[in-house]
Amino acid sequence: MGNPRMLVFFFIAFITVTQSLPFIVLHGIGDSCKHRGFYNFIKLLSDWSESQAYCIEIGNGPWDSWTMPLTKQTAIACEEVKKISDLRHGYNIVGLSQGNLIARGIIEFCDGGPPVKNFVSLGGPHAGTASTPRCGSELVCEFVDAILQLEVYSSFVQAHVAPTGYVKIPTDVADYISGCKFLPKLNNEIASKRNSTYKERFSSLENLVLIMFEDDSIIIPKETAWFGYYPDGAFHPVLTPQQTKLYKEDWIGLRTLDEAGKVKFISFSGDHLAISQSDMKTYIVPYLKDNKSINGYNIQCQK
Ligand SMILES: *[C@@H]1O[C@H](CO)[C@@H](O)[C@H](O)[C@H]1NC(C)=O
Ligand SMILES: *[C@@H]1O[C@H](CO)[C@@H](O)[C@H](O)[C@H]1NC(C)=O
Repeated sequence: MGNPRMLVFFFIAFITVTQSLPFIVLHGIGDSCKHRGFYNFIKLLSDWSESQAYCIEIGNGPWDSWTMPLTKQTAIACEEVKKISDLRHGYNIVGLSQGNLIARGIIEFCDGGPPVKNFVSLGGPHAGTASTPRCGSELVCEFVDAILQLEVYSSFVQAHVAPTGYVKIPTDVADYISGCKFLPKLNNEIASKRNSTYKERFSSLENLVLIMFEDDSIIIPKETAWFGYYPDGAFHPVLTPQQTKLYKEDWIGLRTLDEAGKVKFISFSGDHLAISQSDMKTYIVPYLKDNKSINGYNIQCQK
């Protein structure tokens, strides 16, 4: 008959050994963990990678994603990840659009938070966006559109419309630096306030996967998904990530990560966040599985 207790012991040990790190997902503006499409997206990633997924909801979802300043959204997300004991040995992040800035906020600002290993970013406005994303026909949009009649870098607008925390008008960089409350800090752009802790934390990632959508009509320019952006003072040309000061002077460790071969710049056709299931399998899932599969994937790519 054997010993049933022994059997249970081996069963548990087997599960522990093969289980990948858990991951969290941070949705974009106007979305919600409850939306069916988004839920399905997470479910597929979780099934394919055989890892536990956590959808982090900040406040009530759609409304708060539009109206709560990103500094506050990040602080809430930081507390959330600290509460999930399953993440304490490390976890991965999948970010969508605006959720990528909250993800970076967790990585850079979250004192005492669990360590982040891999960060997969889909269509993130990492270097800013040159215009506020258009609000649709939802209820919140009347409120948002009314406030956006005001000066984008005023304290009032910054405190009430989340995406203004990363609107970077290339011809108005001085006001951006002095008035924009979130991205200048996140990107260590303010010379007198640079904090090496943010850089240290961001450059400790094991992999940074930056996915750009070639036909992105939401974030402007689309290259911001790779940290590319306009030069200060003009709307052209779009600088490659490596041509920006953020990279060259290594304000947040992007260059450090890149030189260590840890940044994967990925692009494929499609509008904002329009990722196919096969691209999910190729570009996201390997980073959510255990180390063995990541290494296997890298070796395949190098051929
Ligand atoms: C830099 O950020 C860390 C983490 O939030 C903080 O503990 C530290 O006080 C900051 N340093 C400065 C000089 O502001
Ligand atoms: C994955 O590999 C890295 C580098 O080889 C190592 O530092 C890290 O601890 C590994 N993570 C896990 C979860 O095994």
